[in-house]
Amino acid sequence: MQIGFIGGGKMAEAIVAALIRSKLAGPHEISAGDVSAERRRLLKERYGINMYSRNRVVVSNAKVLVLAVKPQAMQEVLSEIAGEMTPEHLVISIAAGKRLAWLESILPKARLVRVMPNMPAMVGHGMSVFCAGRGVTAVDRKTVQELLSSFGRVLELPETRFDLVTAVSGSGPAFLAYVVNGMIEMAVAEGLDRDDAGLLAVQTMQGTARVLLDQGMDARALIQAVASPGGTTEAGLAVLEKSKMTAILRDTLKAAMQRSEALSKG
Ligand SMILES: NC(=O)c1ccc[n+]([C@@H]2O[C@H](COP(=O)([O-])OP(=O)(O)OC[C@H]3O[C@@H](n4cnc5c(N)ncnc54)[C@H](OP(=O)(O)O)[C@@H]3O)[C@@H](O)[C@H]2O)c1
Repeated sequence: MQIGFIGGGKMAEAIVAALIRSKLAGPHEISAGDVSAERRRLLKERYGINMYSRNRVVVSNAKVLVLAVKPQAMQEVLSEIAGEMTPEHLVISIAAGKRLAWLESILPKARLVRVMPNMPAMVGHGMSVFCAGRGVTAVDRKTVQELLSSFGRVLELPETRFDLVTAVSGSGPAFLAYVVNGMIEMAVAEGLDRDDAGLLAVQTMQGTARVLLDQGMDARALIQAVASPGGTTEAGLAVLEKSKMTAILRDTLKAAMQRSEALSKG
């Protein structure tokens, strides 16, 4: 697969690493453009891929293009590469808040797919949601599925769900890390070594995720399975209930979702 990246930052690097690891593309088939000489040097050194300072070279080298610059740099980048686009180009945008209609208005010739990945893509356990724009074929969908599967799980949903998805899986890692951090801080305050506290909290989160995902266990069933009547878990859960944690989480996700809506409107 000849694949090009516009922007060689954190997310592009995660995808490049996954593509090479999964052998979906070899280093010589991957090119990327970045304004930063340091990023160009680093990615070339780490992965042996072709790095360019001019994005247009990347566009002419690849038929599958991943737009991986920050949303605020997108307008400038699209204006730069629009003239190089052909109907053969499949363009995958991972920029938060940039809608398909907006992308299609600037790149009318390309077939466009919008993706919301998340940060655990960096360790091959990402969650990516995609939606397809006009002209996207069954073969394109398969290409996108394969590419995204190389660094985690994939779901296709309508674009109308993207603000919600941004809140749940896009911002989600930060919300879950917030909970983990709270557990660590409490354990440290009670006298546990910080490394030990980190291991207890993080390994517990990983184990819990594995039970929910691998065993397909419902989250409510897991809560019941751990909480025996009159026990320690039940005592803790009573505090969560009294503090209206479910309502707090709903408000947290709603705030992220509303911010995503506002950013999408520009
Ligand atoms: N990080 C996440 O968890 C996450 C999750 C979901 C979606 N996303 C999306 O993924 C995209 C990339 O995010 P990121 O975290 O990888 O950002 P990042 O690390 O800042 O990477 C962007 C790279 O693009 C470079 N760049 C800026 N302007 C450019 C231009 N005109 N041409 C070529 N390269 C240019 C930047 O260089 P300089 O730094 O020198 O400007 C930087 O190296 C964003 O649109 C974001 O919304 C990120």
